[in-house]
Amino acid sequence: SWSESAGEGTAGQAPDVRLILHRGFYLIPGVNSPVVVDQIQNWEIRDSDIFLITYPKSGTIWMQQIIILIEAKGNAMATAGKPNCERMPWIEVKGSEETFLQAPLSSPRLSVTHLPYRLLPVGLRQKKAKIIYVARNPKDALVSYYHFHHFAAVLETPKDFNDFFEKFMDGRVYGNTWFEHIKAYYSHKDEMNILYVTYEDMIQDLRSVVEKVCSFLDRELTDSQMASVVEHARFNNMVRNPSANYRQVSATLLNQQRGSFMRKGTVGDWKNLFSVAQSERFDKVFQEEMTDVPLSFKWDLK
Ligand code: A3P
Repeated sequence: SWSESAGEGTAGQAPDVRLILHRGFYLIPGVNSPVVVDQIQNWEIRDSDIFLITYPKSGTIWMQQIIILIEAKGNAMATAGKPNCERMPWIEVKGSEETFLQAPLSSPRLSVTHLPYRLLPVGLRQKKAKIIYVARNPKDALVSYYHFHHFAAVLETPKDFNDFFEKFMDGRVYGNTWFEHIKAYYSHKDEMNILYVTYEDMIQDLRSVVEKVCSFLDRELTDSQMASVVEHARFNNMVRNPSANYRQVSATLLNQQRGSFMRKGTVGDWKNLFSVAQSERFDKVFQEEMTDVPLSFKWDLK
C-alpha cells in the first residue's frame, strides 16, 4: 500500500516500468491491483460513504486533508499519528478491500480514487454515498504530473518534458486522458450525489470551498472549527504535517530525495514548461473535447 513503512529503496534510479492496461485503464504494477479493480464494482456502498474522486495531480491530497479535518471538526491533534492515506485510502490499491469492507458501520468510510466512472462501485450510480470531484486546469495537472514522474519510483522517468507532454495527451499515464476522466464524471452527474470543486477555487478562496464541502456533507462546524480546518489545509502547514505531507511513504514508491507531493501549490506553473506550440495544440484539443461539457472553469488556460 501507499503507506508501507520505509524500506530499502531504489533511490537515485527510477525503474523502467510499464503501466498495465487493465480493462482499458492504466494501472501501476505493484501499487494498483487488477483483482481489486475487478471487484470494486460490486462493493456494497453505504449512504454514509464519502468518496473523493480526481484525475491525478488535481489537488487530491489537499481535499483529502480537508475532508479528514472536517470529520475531526477541525481538531488537527485528533488527525495526527496516522497518515491520511490510511484514514482515507485509495480504493484501487492492493489490500484496500479489507479496509473498506470491514470498516465499522458506525463511522463514515472515507475513500479516494482516480478510477474512471465506469469502474466505480455500481452503488454510487444510485445516488448512494457522497462524491467530491476535484478538477484542476489540465495544463497545471500535466506539469505537476511531469514532476511527479521524477519523484515517484514506481513511474517511468520521462526523457524530457516533450516526451511526457505526448504521453499525457495520449493518455498513456495512470488516469488515462484528463478529458475522458472529466467528461465521464460530468455526463453521469445526475446519477450521482456529486459536488464539483476546482483546485483554482481552493486557491482563490479556501474558506468558501471548505464551507461548501461542509454543507454538502451535512457537517456543522463552528466558526473556530472551520477556521482551524482552513488553517491546517494551507500549503505551508500541510508541508510540515507528517500525516498530510506523504514524506513517510516508502522509498520503493516515492523517491523522497527527488521531489515532494507538496511541490509548489500554485496556479499557472504550466507557463514555465509549455512551449507556445504546445499551448496552442492543447487549447485546440481542449476546445474539441470539451464542446459538450458546459462546465464553466475559472482557470485561465491562456
Ligand atoms: P504542484 O505539483 O503543482 O505543486 P494530487 O494530490 O492530486 O497529487 O495533487 C498534488 C498537487 O496539489 C501538487 O501540485 C501539490 O503541491 C498541490 N497541493 C497539495 N496540497 C496543497 C495545498 N494545501 N495548497 C495548494 N496546493 C496543494
